[in-house]
Amino acid sequence: MKRVSTSQLIPGMVLARDVISLDGQLILSAGTMLNDKMITKLDIYGIFTAFIQEDPTEQKVTFQQRDASYSRRVRNSEAFKKFKVVYDIQLGQFRDELNAMVSKNLKLDVEKLLSNSLRLIAGVDGTLSILDILNNMREYDDSTYAHSMNVALISNIIARWLKMSEDETRMATTCGLLHDVGKILVPHDIIAKPGKLTDAEFAVVQKHPVTGYQLLRRQELNEHICNAALMHHERMDGTGYPMRLSGGQIDPFARIVAIADVYDAMTAARVYRGPMCPFRVIELYESEGYEKYDVEYLLTFLENVVNTFVRNRCLLSDGREGDIVLINKGNLSRPVVQCGIQYVNLAEHPELRLESIL
Ligand SMILES: [Fe+2]
Ligand SMILES: [Fe+2]
Repeated sequence: MKRVSTSQLIPGMVLARDVISLDGQLILSAGTMLNDKMITKLDIYGIFTAFIQEDPTEQKVTFQQRDASYSRRVRNSEAFKKFKVVYDIQLGQFRDELNAMVSKNLKLDVEKLLSNSLRLIAGVDGTLSILDILNNMREYDDSTYAHSMNVALISNIIARWLKMSEDETRMATTCGLLHDVGKILVPHDIIAKPGKLTDAEFAVVQKHPVTGYQLLRRQELNEHICNAALMHHERMDGTGYPMRLSGGQIDPFARIVAIADVYDAMTAARVYRGPMCPFRVIELYESEGYEKYDVEYLLTFLENVVNTFVRNRCLLSDGREGDIVLINKGNLSRPVVQCGIQYVNLAEHPELRLESIL
């Protein structure tokens, strides 16, 4: 048995111990063989490590099988390499700025933070999208800082797809950058603790929206920025926290950040298994329930995500390869795929799934 961080779990690993959620519920029991969906759930539930049975040979094979050429193509591109260099520099500065604000109560230079993030986006040319790049970045850094930067970039994309004004797009980006500042004050031993948290520890983790809100209020920042920190874990159907707000009570910028936040958690690349197929991501939003999010925002986002994969080569779960030729508007995770002379409409074949982008 060995302890493995969630970011390094791969499908096929078998749990050696039960996994318990932060509030004490059993998520997965010992003996379960992990799949993609389960590993992502662990991420979403904030589980940082799990105990797995040891079988190193099997893990290696799984990794090689999953090293899809789509990822390789992205990682080998010039655009990706360039982005990574600038990203690392920006991330270092971002970390220093946030830490100085939190520990020394220094005034945050929001304009500078924002223009640094926007420069990252501006540097990406047309050949790759920011999402392609981010999907392949996460193995490098799993910290709150990297997560925040990613959420900022994804929020920027969502705002642009929603055709928001320049000012609103800048606001959405800033909201993403600062949404999790409260997490910096959660003690590391709680964040990294394996297994069940005590009630007191759990209460500390769940306070990060309020702590973040207070920090940002003290900085006298725009109310949308403070609200995004406070409300990004609220859900449209009233099932979120800390205040169980619903619908219109939730700041529109917090609704954008909520979608970007979950997307980043879902697609976080795991060192051994590569990034998650975007069509799986959509299935996950579906299984969680579209009603938890602002449906207009979410559908605009997901439609744009899948549209970038039209004409891409893909692998189906029965081993066939084909080209994605048409997106089903009412069933985004199940497009029409052309395999040779045959058209396979995945919406009509529940027994099949789109396994990966090639
Ligand atoms: Fe959060
Ligand atoms: Fe977050």
